[in-house]
Amino acid sequence: MTRTPPAELTVGQVAARSGVAVSALHFYEEKGLISSRRTSGNQRRYPRETLRRVAAIRVAQRVGIPLRMVKEAFATLPDGRTPDREDWARLSAAWCDELDTRIEQLTRLRNSLADCIGCGCLSLDRCLLRNRDDRLGEQGSGPRRLFTRAVREEEDRANLRIH
Ligand code: FES
Repeated sequence: MTRTPPAELTVGQVAARSGVAVSALHFYEEKGLISSRRTSGNQRRYPRETLRRVAAIRVAQRVGIPLRMVKEAFATLPDGRTPDREDWARLSAAWCDELDTRIEQLTRLRNSLADCIGCGCLSLDRCLLRNRDDRLGEQGSGPRRLFTRAVREEEDRANLRIH
């Protein structure tokens, strides 16, 4: 005889089944990535599909997709539904550009790790050749030679928002 799984789960059950800490689930909920209803005793109850949402969030995080992008992707689903297989294929395809950017960034990081990274320290012999007088500092803060164009553009946008 098969047992029908419960349609709703407590936060502890979601944590146990998803392998995600209760505090992380609360954080996801606070960020609007998952949602629950409250019982009369003010306890959270999550629809069973939350497990798939949490899995999608974890996979996205694992490959470096920011939670902001995950939330934007979830927002494209009708009626806030949990992504099905086709949804997941579409969402993950949309993240390919982001992944390509990260791969490019990591490749540069790997290739430049022992070299001047343009951080402004001017402490390596090679800095004299590659970043004489901290010229890269004119482009902005941080290790300039490791930042991809996409990261630089994101930084520029963030700076525009701040100012
Ligand atoms: S390693 Fe810092 S400026 Fe070259």
